[in-house]
Amino acid sequence: MLYHIFKKLMFHFDPEKVHELFFRNLNKLNNSFFSFLINQSVAIKPVQCMGLFFKNPLGLAAGLDKDGECIDAFGSMGFGFIEVGTVTPKPQFGNNKPRLFRIVKADALINRMGFNNKGVDNLVENIKKSSYNGIIGVNIGKNNDTLIEESKNDYLFCMNKVYNHAGYIVINISSPNTHRLRELQYDVFLDDLLIKIKSEQLKLRLQYKKNVPVLIKIAPDLTENEIVQFSDSLLRQNIDGVIATNTTLDHSLVQGLSYCNEDGGLSGRPVQCKSTKVIEIISREIRGKIPIIGVGGIDSLISAREKIEAGASLIQIYSGLIYRGPKLIKDIVNYI
Ligand SMILES: Cc1cc2nc3c(=O)[nH]c(=O)nc-3n(C[C@H](O)[C@H](O)[C@H](O)COP(=O)(O)O)c2cc1C
Repeated sequence: MLYHIFKKLMFHFDPEKVHELFFRNLNKLNNSFFSFLINQSVAIKPVQCMGLFFKNPLGLAAGLDKDGECIDAFGSMGFGFIEVGTVTPKPQFGNNKPRLFRIVKADALINRMGFNNKGVDNLVENIKKSSYNGIIGVNIGKNNDTLIEESKNDYLFCMNKVYNHAGYIVINISSPNTHRLRELQYDVFLDDLLIKIKSEQLKLRLQYKKNVPVLIKIAPDLTENEIVQFSDSLLRQNIDGVIATNTTLDHSLVQGLSYCNEDGGLSGRPVQCKSTKVIEIISREIRGKIPIIGVGGIDSLISAREKIEAGASLIQIYSGLIYRGPKLIKDIVNYI
């Protein structure tokens, strides 16, 4: 109810300005007398996955807390795990504003943020300061001015920085807003990157004497044949997990609605079926050998269950949280 009123008010303002205002005040709220507005207790629904213990299967998707500034506040909303990032080696501004749009009639967002973040060192400091006792995943990417042929250096650099502070690491090669990034999902680029990532993980495992799983995040815009080849590569290179999916470049389901022609990745309800389909195909191909984190359009208990039925072991939300508020977390976790 309270979130409903908050949303009605906030949806009159520019989405990114609201986001900034929200982030500036979320930690203060969490530490104040009014913390009851965001704190909620949810059922314990433990999931063992990739050798890690998750309090419940619902996590915060990457991109909302890119710099890990509000980990504790999101933790107190009841998430079973929190993914921060995408971060890059150097800080960067991202694309020009405006770059985030609400398609209210479709419970959707279009964004072309372009990995705006304060850099990996800043993120690590924020993780160290947090007292959240759940799993923190760290999602890493490449700087905009790094050539695609050299992007593996950015991933290896970030892996080294975050390895000792992350519950798991996500290699983001599926954002549509960084020039040529999605090419890394195919053929030689993919195998070459995965080989380097796996050997770095082995090195870091010996150095820190602990195993931090490495996952790859896929776009929802690959053809079935491309998803099959992608899954083969993950199996071949012994990757620990896959996150399906990122936002889509297919805006056909929101045609005619305000902002539908803005460039960028579409998220929320219109990506729901597309991402579930990708999960189904990956699940069929990898036959339970690699865990899947399902994300894309989850906005209810039913859509959360659909992702799990399609083969996901864990799930995440982003747009659903914006449209439904923190109660969505409770509604999903308590009944899943
Ligand atoms: C504004 C915005 C920024 C995002 N930034 C990132 C990001 O930095 N890294 C990433 O892997 N995914 C990012 N995503 C994608 C989400 O993590 C998620 O995969 C996608 O939005 C689908 O889930 P949803 O329908 O629940 O939003 C972003 C999504 C939005 C809406």
